[in-house]
Amino acid sequence: MNSPSPLELKAISCSFDSGAEGLYTATQGVNLKVNPGEFVSVVGPTGCGKSTILNVAAGLLTPSSGEVLSFGEPLKGINKKAGYMFQAEALMPWRNVMDNVLAGLQFKGLEPQLAKEIATDWLKRVGLLAFAERYPHQLSGGMRKRVSLAQVLALEPELILMDEPFSALDIQTRQLMENEVLDLCFGTTMNKPRSVLFITHDLDEAIAMSDRIIVLSAGPASHPIGEFNIDLPRPRDVANIRDNPHFFELHASIWAVLRDEVMKSYAKQLA
Ligand SMILES: Nc1ncnc2c1ncn2[C@@H]1O[C@H](COP(=O)(O)OP(=O)(O)O)[C@@H](O)[C@H]1O
Ligand SMILES: [Mg+2]
Repeated sequence: MNSPSPLELKAISCSFDSGAEGLYTATQGVNLKVNPGEFVSVVGPTGCGKSTILNVAAGLLTPSSGEVLSFGEPLKGINKKAGYMFQAEALMPWRNVMDNVLAGLQFKGLEPQLAKEIATDWLKRVGLLAFAERYPHQLSGGMRKRVSLAQVLALEPELILMDEPFSALDIQTRQLMENEVLDLCFGTTMNKPRSVLFITHDLDEAIAMSDRIIVLSAGPASHPIGEFNIDLPRPRDVANIRDNPHFFELHASIWAVLRDEVMKSYAKQLA
């Protein structure tokens, strides 16, 4: 039997009370599936509902209607099989780097000695073991992101949810981080390939990272309007993969779908 899909969203709709204007339907009828070991990106214009969808997958937001399946089981409450990484900084400023990575492992109830070994191992993998005693404010933005990454991956989640995790970084740091994610998720360091749902508004980033890209329409009632398999070879270097002629072809086909949605969203912002 095939192993169950790490995540399946079935006909998900999310409406928000927007005061005097009544209900705002952000997403409507969203069907989305992440297959085992697959890296799926969701792209769409700002405000279309990307974070809303990720929050539903994380179990942080209950949809107004529709069903969420996590490894074949209906999701109830927080998605405990998922690790999340958000755009905003999520480190605890009063804990040093080691203690930030340890926190989740301790919360999971691991023996202190084992937790320490795993945290040490992950800090080594993200190249920050020498900074274990530092506090978040003593690190660069890129280093803080690497701590967050170690924090999430140390728990070896079966599904990784990422919401524009690197959008605040400069382009070089960002590419380094993207390569690290690919290596950590698909390289030999993990026991098995991870399944990832990645949110971005950056099409280049989505193509460089993903196995499959889903394009969302502009809101309201945002829903998938295009799906593209990214058949570029792995392992990939996100900087070099952009030179692959097929990258340009993929970019052109996806942008042809995405462009109209971005323009609609832009026009709405100006209205
Ligand atoms: N908790 C909320 N209450 C009211 N409106 C919300 C809430 N969360 C999101 N929205 C609205 O839903 C739409 C989609 O938001 P979001 O998912 O954050 O978009 P994206 O991540 O694609 O930029 C936006 O119009 C936003 O204002
Ligand atoms: Mg968002």
